Amino acid sequence: MRGSFFLPAFGLLASLGFSGVALASEPDKAPPHQAWSFDGPLGHYDQGSLQRGFLVFQRVCSTCHGMRDVSYNDLAGIGLTQQQIAETAKAKPQADAPDAAGRPTMRPGLPDDHLHSPFPSDAAAAAMMGGVAPPDQSRLAMTHPGGADWLYAFLTGYRMPPPADAPIVPGKFYNDWATGHMIGMPPPLMNGMIQYPDGTPATVEQQARDITTFLVWASDPHRNERHSIGKAVMAYLAVLLVLAIAWKRKIWKRLKTQ
Ligand code: HEC
Repeated sequence: MRGSFFLPAFGLLASLGFSGVALASEPDKAPPHQAWSFDGPLGHYDQGSLQRGFLVFQRVCSTCHGMRDVSYNDLAGIGLTQQQIAETAKAKPQADAPDAAGRPTMRPGLPDDHLHSPFPSDAAAAAMMGGVAPPDQSRLAMTHPGGADWLYAFLTGYRMPPPADAPIVPGKFYNDWATGHMIGMPPPLMNGMIQYPDGTPATVEQQARDITTFLVWASDPHRNERHSIGKAVMAYLAVLLVLAIAWKRKIWKRLKTQ
């Protein structure tokens, strides 16, 4: 009896506690839904957007963020050739074993290297970035509540100047979609700051859309293959269904005429 009284009371308290935590960390409202090519059970990544998104990562985000689960070789998955992969990797020098005198050395990057953080450690990154280290981006699109829609809203959500009633916090920037509307990351995107080789105009919105697509790919690189297999399985089952119906008709016709 006693347990049955205490359990609901505990449940109520726990749910109050949890909703308090959730309110503190969640944005006020859900981010607006965007149409993504990779949405839904048949969705596919748009390869042009993936390659533009990688360019944004390389030119902009990678100056502060790493993507340690992704290697240059993995970029074959967004359609880069072996030669492009080798050249891209080579352009990023990597720390090598110390020389005979114990001095640190560097070597050209190799296709097997991962997209490491540019900082030697999270503590060093935090010290240089005003207290918070830029998070690794390998799984960001999957682990951050709101996923792709939130990422897009966040990357296009900086307001300069901030609203008049917003508190001024040194080293923090106002963003409609950051927790508490304040974030230590300066607005990373600007209109026309990079040039896309395919001629797509590099607006903030376009760059946000492309880097979001690339971040979703990084967190789930096999979605295209999975969805293609899904389609093939559905087609196979459809053929089996037609055969099964034909077979059933044939058998029943024979039985009925007997
Ligand atoms: C100048 C360094 C810098 C650059 C460039 C940069 N970031 Fe950041 N980023 C940070 C820092 C620092 C944080 C942590 C800030 C904090 O939590 O206050 C961060 C946090 C984030 C977060 C997490 C925000 C949250 O609320 O959890 C996302 C998402 C993000 N960055 C995406 C990007 C993307 C995408 C790019 C490239 C377009 C990029 N960043 C470029 C420094 C940078």
